[in-house]
Amino acid sequence: MSHTQVQLQDTGASARKITVRTLLEKKRQRQPITALTAYDYPTARLIDEAGIDLILVGDSVAMTVLGYESTLSLTVEEMLHHARAVRRGVSRALLVVDMPYGSYHVSADETMRNALCFMKQGGAEAVKIEGGRRRAATVEQLTLAEIPVVGHIGLTPQSLHSMGGYRVQGRSLPEMEELLADAAALEDAGAVALVLEGIPRELAEEITATVTIPTIGIGAGPGCDGQILVFHDLFGMTFGPLAKFVRSFGDAAELMREGLEQYRAAVLERSFPADEESYHLSAEMASGLEKLAAPVSLAS
Ligand code: KIV
Repeated sequence: MSHTQVQLQDTGASARKITVRTLLEKKRQRQPITALTAYDYPTARLIDEAGIDLILVGDSVAMTVLGYESTLSLTVEEMLHHARAVRRGVSRALLVVDMPYGSYHVSADETMRNALCFMKQGGAEAVKIEGGRRRAATVEQLTLAEIPVVGHIGLTPQSLHSMGGYRVQGRSLPEMEELLADAAALEDAGAVALVLEGIPRELAEEITATVTIPTIGIGAGPGCDGQILVFHDLFGMTFGPLAKFVRSFGDAAELMREGLEQYRAAVLERSFPADEESYHLSAEMASGLEKLAAPVSLAS
């Protein structure tokens, strides 16, 4: 496909590819940006086909899919494995991959190598990193290497221990001031969008009004330019208590529980598989099989 063809596609109508520019346009036109996490091929396909704008291979995969206690244990290799699966299921949405804890903390070289790995092998169109002003240099470095960066401020789960737990951020004046400065610094450093997590809605509205890049909220109220949630939280697939900001959009877990019970019962009572769910021999082969199975006389 030539560059011109790609560009023509990009200016098409409803099914057009979402890029970082589309997100910016949506902010300018006050059109809400829709975003969700995905961790595997089938859910990525469903989300993409539903017309969601941005798909994040979130490091929440550590807890939702891999059963870790927190996101801190996730490795680059594990993330890459999920990113590649999601990539195969996405054709329209913008694909953003979270950089795991530790993958952008050691040195500039290592950060660059890991980010390039997500872009080249994982098919990411942007990476997301957590943290405010202290990440500005990293955002700048990646941006200079043509790697679009989504910032993430407020309740940043990778800072679990330094925050002293998963706590709503930005409730005091100094914290608000810090978060406003974080948002401005990330924008100045070249971030293409900001995830605002776990902050009061009034502060999220203020940040959204002061930056020119799109804000995507999770637990940050309705005033952000877009909203993101964890896929498994939407459909009852998360074990344990849910955060206040999560809304259920269906109970896939209950559907699966019922189906699993029915499957088990059907196998136990031998009603599965039925005759129409079985392969059959032709009459000729069936009689051949009968002969094969006939007892062989020891006398002959
Ligand atoms: O990993 C994640 O799921 C996130 C959220 C912001 C959606 O970072």
